[in-house]
Amino acid sequence: MYDTIVESAFRRDVVQGLSASQKTLSSKYFYNAAGDELFRQIMACPEYYLSRAEEQLLRDHSAAMVRACAKRLGYFDIVELGAGDGSKTVHLLREALQQGCIHQYIPIDIPASSVDYLLHTLAPQLPGLAIEGIVGEYLPALDQALTASQRPKLVLFLGATIGNLLPAEAWAFCWQLRERLRPGNLLLVGFDLKKDPATILAAYNDQAGLTSAFNLNLLQHINDELGGNFEVGAFAHYPVCDPATGACKSYLISQCAQRVTLDDGTAFEFAPGEAIYMEVSQKYSVAEIEELGRTARFLSVHTFFDAQQRFVDVLWQRG
Ligand code: AVI
Repeated sequence: MYDTIVESAFRRDVVQGLSASQKTLSSKYFYNAAGDELFRQIMACPEYYLSRAEEQLLRDHSAAMVRACAKRLGYFDIVELGAGDGSKTVHLLREALQQGCIHQYIPIDIPASSVDYLLHTLAPQLPGLAIEGIVGEYLPALDQALTASQRPKLVLFLGATIGNLLPAEAWAFCWQLRERLRPGNLLLVGFDLKKDPATILAAYNDQAGLTSAFNLNLLQHINDELGGNFEVGAFAHYPVCDPATGACKSYLISQCAQRVTLDDGTAFEFAPGEAIYMEVSQKYSVAEIEELGRTARFLSVHTFFDAQQRFVDVLWQRG
């Protein structure tokens, strides 16, 4: 039943996106099994500094983060939006266990396979921690997690996933999070900082071609799930980074005039050189992050930097 709803939402979004004057596909559909595996490889590739920066940040600052949370929340639950493989969160969870202030960890992710993977990899590393995964879209799943117990909550939104929203969407999302949290609850959000655009561009155009394969895999996903006939090799990955706005955007460029159809007969025409807008990975200055938190009515508790000041995790409190 859930699979049918997910398939029809995918079809609706693909048809809508490829029928628009600026063709677009949503990056939230990157993450099927092949996409998850490619993303794991991207996180380990030399150019993609983001995961290493945030992992180092969490290694270095977990103790201070947990102290800051325990001071405000006492004994609390940690809820994570888009938990991924848990390789970074494990530092925070281990520290919270050591400081004796965590009751339960509730990871939320859309593919059931991600939540299962996480439960199997994390549970043996964190004996004594209650872990209860939720499969679903972030906001409804968060509602479920927040009402499951009266305990105070720390909500994690790490990995610069907020950067996959345009700034206005990021603000709206933060506002929706704030509306759901109880007064005093905390939110820890990971942001990739503005930096030399050449460094950013390289992270989205790695030599091994993993990011290219990651983007092209969405066309294959459409072929597999919606009976599409995309010729994947007839599109090329093209990332651009605008240092003024901090937007790093990825496109797939049609290499020739072509027509693509889905199994229900819906057809899309592509001109040579026509672009499909795939993803934004928005970079922020510290001032822009502060402004975002303030206008979404969060109180800033602390900003944690990695040693090379490439990435921040900001701790905000719902007033
Ligand atoms: C998940 N997200 C934060 C990644 C990013 O950096 O925007 C997704 C990604 N896209 C290409 N490489 C990684």
